This record gives sequence, C-alpha cells and structure tokens, in this order.
Amino acid sequence: MLDIFSLEGKLAIVTGSARGIGQAYALGLAKAGATLVLVDILEDNLQETASLIKEATGRDSKTYGIDVTDSTKINAMVSELIAEFGKIDILVNNAGINAPKPFLEVTEEDWKKIVGVNLNSQFLMSSAVAKEMVKRNYGKIINMASVGGFMALSETAPYNASKGGVLQLTKTMAADLSQYNLNINAICPGFIDTGLLKSSPEREARLQKVYANTPLNRLGEPSDLVGACVFLASDASKYMTGTQIVVDGGMSAVAM
Ligand code: NAI
Repeated sequence: MLDIFSLEGKLAIVTGSARGIGQAYALGLAKAGATLVLVDILEDNLQETASLIKEATGRDSKTYGIDVTDSTKINAMVSELIAEFGKIDILVNNAGINAPKPFLEVTEEDWKKIVGVNLNSQFLMSSAVAKEMVKRNYGKIINMASVGGFMALSETAPYNASKGGVLQLTKTMAADLSQYNLNINAICPGFIDTGLLKSSPEREARLQKVYANTPLNRLGEPSDLVGACVFLASDASKYMTGTQIVVDGGMSAVAM
C-alpha cells in the first residue's frame, strides 16, 4: 500500500460498526493498519465485526455496547480509551437511523429520535473526542452524511434535515478546529444496500426509483464506501477539511 494511506499505529473509533457500512469501514481501517474501537447498541453483533478484524489482520479490537446519544457513556468511554491508549487518532461518526414516512405522518417523537441519533450523537462524540485530539494537534473526524443532506429524498424529512445538519456541523468544526491540525470531513453516500434500506416497507418500489435515478444503475455496497473512509482517515487527505466526498453512483449529478 502507498505509505500515505497507511494507518499503522493509529487508534480509530467507528460508531454503528456492528453491521452495514460501519462494519465495512472498521474492517477497511483495520486492514490499512489501525487498531479499532467498535461502538454500537447491538453489543452482541459487535463481536462479529471484531472477529472479522481478527481474522483479516490478527489484531484485537475494543468493543463498547453503548448508545451514541448518551453523553455520560460517551465521556466514560473516551476517558477509558485515553487512559489505555493515550490518544484517539480517528473518529468515524457512522451510527444512523431512518424511518421513511410522508411528511404529514412524521411525529414529534420520530423527529427527535432521528435527529438525536443522526445529528446530536455526532456533536456529542466529536466534542468528547476532539477535546483529546487538540491536545496532540492531530485528528481525523469523518461524519456520515448522505446525498439527503443536500438533496430532498422524498418521505424522509427528519433524515434529510439531520444529514443537512451533519454537513454544516462538519464545516463549522473544520472552521474551529483547523488551528489544531484536525481534519473534519463528511461522506455522502447514495443508496447503499444495508439494513437501513432492507427495512424499508416499500423496498421494491424504492429500488425501482433508485435504478431509474442512478447512472451506474445499481445499489451501492458498503465496500464501495471503504476507499473514501480510508482516504479521509489517512494523511493522503491532509489538505482536505470541511468538505464532503459524494459516493452515489452518479445519482446527484443528474436530473431526470
Ligand atoms: P445499518 O442500520 O445497517 O447500521 C447502522 C448501525 O448503527 C447499526 O449497527 C445500529 O445498531 C447502529 N446504531 C443505530 N442507532 C444507534 C445508537 N443510538 N447508538 C449506537 N449505535 C446505533 O445502516 P447503514 O446503512 O450501515 O448506515 C450507516 C450510516 O450510513 C448511517 O449514518 C446512515 O444514515 C448512512 N447512510 C446510509 C445510506 C444507505 O443507503 N444505507 C445512504 C446514506 C447514508
């Protein structure tokens, strides 16, 4: 591997890494050399990710079965990691949820839950971790947004609003934290075939729409996103901050 992509000796946290895109990110970062901290509410499934990493790299991972909207647990985890490793180099804020519904059916509870997991958690995690990163003048934070952060995907108002918030949070963190040599960037996927989409009640109808609007004419796989994550986590992207990489099969480039 080209040296600028190497993550040897780095400690990386990936939230939502029990399955889907987060699991693929964790495995990709580990293959590039990082030691992984795996965070998810699905505590049992985290062991599967840890086993995949062990098989592929021989390295052990740390797992935390915590909710990323719980600031008390986040702060305790960060203190424990600093005590054990002395540093955190990379944070991937990946945990996220969706529950597609027409706008008029969205409840206050839906709104609070989706914005809480998708946006508030990224603030809580980033705040706790960045306070440690600035002490060493080094850190990479990667926020999972979506094309829904800058385009309106129908029937997903709280999701789109939360991801738009993620893009603004990313830019503002870059503005405030560049003086400490932190790189803060986002990834905006199009439609990726994971639990989020599999749980959609109208999967088939949604798929037909996706194919019709995606020039590369297929759904993305979690593995399609790993290159962007490793790039943003590595020194290959050290002159990038406050921006986003769109990985969407061309979807946002075309208007049908
Ligand atoms: P997924 O549902 O397969 O995985 C999400 C993971 O986050 C799960 O393991 C889940 O347990 C965890 N999680 C959810 N709430 C949590 C909480 N409160 N605390 C800790 N962990 C929590 O979903 P997927 O598709 O892998 O999504 C990952 C990220 O990618 C999300 O931020 C999502 O919004 C984003 N994304 C996904 C797209 C897709 O088409 N699948 C498209 C654009 C963005």
